[in-house]
Amino acid sequence: MESKTVTTTTLLKKKQKGEKITVLTAYDYPTAKLLDEAGLDIALVGDSLGQVVLGYDSTLPVTLEDMVHHTKAVVRGTRRAMVVADMPFMSYQAGPNEAVANAGYLIQEAAAISHQTEDRKPVTETITIAVKLEGGEHMVSTIVRIVEAGIPVMGHLGMLPMSATRFGGARVHGKTKSEAERILRDAKELEEAGVFAIVLELVPKDLAKQVTDAISVPTIGIGAGPHCDGHVLVTSDLLGLYGAPFKHVKQYADLSGTILQAFKEYAEDVRTGKFPGEEHSF
Ligand code: KIV
Repeated sequence: MESKTVTTTTLLKKKQKGEKITVLTAYDYPTAKLLDEAGLDIALVGDSLGQVVLGYDSTLPVTLEDMVHHTKAVVRGTRRAMVVADMPFMSYQAGPNEAVANAGYLIQEAAAISHQTEDRKPVTETITIAVKLEGGEHMVSTIVRIVEAGIPVMGHLGMLPMSATRFGGARVHGKTKSEAERILRDAKELEEAGVFAIVLELVPKDLAKQVTDAISVPTIGIGAGPHCDGHVLVTSDLLGLYGAPFKHVKQYADLSGTILQAFKEYAEDVRTGKFPGEEHSF
């Protein structure tokens, strides 16, 4: 496996060579460590942590401090993968000044992690930490300001979880001609604004291909078919840790079942005196 840290240039080269970019969400140190060890390119600290970790109904209650807290844990577990942190609801919508200050705060806090290798030598290559924000054309001036501040920005188009209620809930975007045209136009504008990649969430696969072919920066799909330059899943969905899987999810494990069984066995062992045994005692 490659040992060099993943940068925005690494991702661009992957697109140019037709190599797929691999992305999963991570919200904590152990998951980030395993994701990094497995050779994934990007650990996305998604604001989906609102639902899958904090138990909210949506991403809206997630705060900047929540994102700082979880991003720090993910950075601690990462040696090679790029870490992308979602800017939470209302941390960038009020305008470019507030957005650049909040993006700067998030990056500064996350970067202030003293990395040490297992043998206690400091890591020589620093990992890339970036932010992601949702929205098209109307976010251009905000993205330009954050990029100008030296912070890599990932865009997010298609179904935008923060504005889902405005569009009648989570649904596929870009089925109509006008919606498809808008998404394509937005992607070009985001590229122009300086994003290094764009997440396409819940869009028809032919539109995802059209966008992928039309822009030079990588597209990262979720529920966007096979033609994107890379793919992302919410790790809790992939592991079977959070409710019934959506159509776009491939579930690779049933950790809920495994954990439930382990908890039940443990409780039973404690109740019946099987645990702790002699072998666990001092
Ligand atoms: O918050 C998140 O996990 C995301 C992915 C769905 C792309 O934004």
